[in-house]
Amino acid sequence: MYRLLTIVGAVLPAVLAQTFYGCYTEGSSSRALTGAQTVNYTSMTVEVCETYCTGLTFSIWGLEYGGECYCGNELSTGSFQSFSTDCTMSCGGNATETCGGPNRLSLYGSSTEAPAVTLDPHAAVNATEFLGCYTEGVGVRALSGAQAYSATGMTVEACGNYCLEAGYTIFGTEYSAECYCGNSIDTTSTLAASTDCSMACSGNSTELCGGPDRLSVYQWYDSSA
Ligand SMILES: *[C@@H]1O[C@H](CO)[C@@H](O)[C@H](O)[C@H]1NC(C)=O
Ligand SMILES: *[C@@H]1O[C@H](CO)[C@@H](O)[C@H](O)[C@H]1NC(C)=O
Ligand SMILES: *[C@@H]1O[C@H](CO)[C@@H](O)[C@H](O)[C@H]1NC(C)=O
Ligand SMILES: *[C@@H]1O[C@H](CO)[C@@H](O)[C@H](O)[C@H]1NC(C)=O
Repeated sequence: MYRLLTIVGAVLPAVLAQTFYGCYTEGSSSRALTGAQTVNYTSMTVEVCETYCTGLTFSIWGLEYGGECYCGNELSTGSFQSFSTDCTMSCGGNATETCGGPNRLSLYGSSTEAPAVTLDPHAAVNATEFLGCYTEGVGVRALSGAQAYSATGMTVEACGNYCLEAGYTIFGTEYSAECYCGNSIDTTSTLAASTDCSMACSGNSTELCGGPDRLSVYQWYDSSA
């Protein structure tokens, strides 16, 4: 019970007159927010950052690594909503609040609409297509590029963005919380019954994220082609 309270307290965003957008990555070649910044690892809170950024008339602010505060009016290329479990560092000035993580921002803003995201694609793509439910490979992963795991934050979008930024156009979610990337599906992986992929995503119960030994596989493609 004590442990549960501690964990819940550490991941809850502050309840303020601002919108919490989620846990975001830094940009691919610059900080996600480049307007202004202030750092204090002992006194930083979500309120301190909000006050600092809104005082400079910025509309978006993010907290990183327990004590860094960044402001801006838009997200840099390559910054996207990542897995919520990447943002679990408490704020130096208020341990019950979350201030991002390593290279991750707890992102807030004055608009109820989340800011637009511009990925840094390694291929000319801008839409995703569901390829089907696939078996794992035999002795190898069906998708053997990058991989990520998020016990409570996996979604189809987060996995897709993660893989595209990592340089892969095919991605698959497995066993609710796992994400695998590749540029081709291993030949030992075969199409399975769609009912084999019926586990809800750990970060969005209305989305499906594969099953035991099964991947819900998607591909990025160019919708203008
Ligand atoms: C710490 O943050 C919590 C959650 O936002 C808030 O309720 C509380 O008042 C804050 N404590 C201090 C000392 O600011
Ligand atoms: C951090 O904030 C505290 C409290 O306001 C202050 O005493 C301290 O000097 C600050 N540290 C730095 C490095 O600015
Ligand atoms: C969950 O997924 C559904 C279907 O993709 C989507 O419409 C909804 O916005 C998602 N919810 C959240 C909180 O991301
Ligand atoms: C992808 O880009 C093309 C060309 O710019 C555009 O026509 C199309 O609407 C875009 N599709 C999506 C899903 O953004």
